[in-house]
Amino acid sequence: MTAETIDGKAFAATLRGKVGDQARAFEAAAGRQAGLAVVLVGEDPASQIYVRSKGKATLEAGMASFEHKLAADTPEAELLALVDALNADPAVDGILVQLPLPPHMNEAKVIATIDPDKDVDGFTVVNAGRLATGLHGFVPCTPLGCLMLLKDRLGDLAGLDAVVIGRSNIVGKPMAQLLLKESCTVTVAHSRTRDLADVVRRADIVVAAVGRPAMVTGDWLKPGATVIDVGINRVPGAEPGKTKLVGDVDFPSASTVAGAITPVPGGVGPMTIACLLRNTLVAAQRRAGVRGTEI
Ligand code: GUN
Repeated sequence: MTAETIDGKAFAATLRGKVGDQARAFEAAAGRQAGLAVVLVGEDPASQIYVRSKGKATLEAGMASFEHKLAADTPEAELLALVDALNADPAVDGILVQLPLPPHMNEAKVIATIDPDKDVDGFTVVNAGRLATGLHGFVPCTPLGCLMLLKDRLGDLAGLDAVVIGRSNIVGKPMAQLLLKESCTVTVAHSRTRDLADVVRRADIVVAAVGRPAMVTGDWLKPGATVIDVGINRVPGAEPGKTKLVGDVDFPSASTVAGAITPVPGGVGPMTIACLLRNTLVAAQRRAGVRGTEI
């Protein structure tokens, strides 16, 4: 069997187009653009790239982008004051503080300062609690994007066995909550799980978010399973001195067993930014009392 490749890049482009259409309608109705503020502390190269592409995508979707770059040695109190100012700024609908923060800062404290109704990353305790209890809130962008790809491929997920590998607050835990909400039977596996291959082999849906290159191989999979690979691991490439990106799933072997699988790159990655734009649009609509269509 050769798995169908799930084209996250194409799906994300369509989603961004829909967000752009509604962003224009929002601007007409509210008399202002939806706005996303992104805060970057320090010069981490990967974070700089993410922040740049988030800013570009925000403008392309017809929303306002506010970028705040702070030096790595900025006192924590200064960052907290900036977040407070963004909370109070009526032009800002979404606030994203790029992680990781420098070691002298307390990430939990910084996240807790973000107004939950502007928390488009879905990282606050309030939004985690809303997700866990079935209330409207904001869902972290990567698991939200994974769920969209799964529903597009499989339709109704009710009753399916889902295994999430990884228990991070950003991906694993919210992913499990989302799948539970869709009436899947959910197992959260992690580094201490016994007989992981046997656990994964039961799954109709596998979401791999562990950060271990090519860990999940084809012999771990139930034939026909839908595999979502969240991993972005940089490993040595074929040419000396060059690197390449690989997922947590060994694509060559997995694609001979799975029914459908996301590639790396071009699978889950592009969905994360598209969902950030979606969450920002929804934040703007809710704050301004403007109705949109569910996307
Ligand atoms: N760092 C890596 N991914 C993310 C993300 O989705 N949001 C934020 N705020 N920081 C990140």
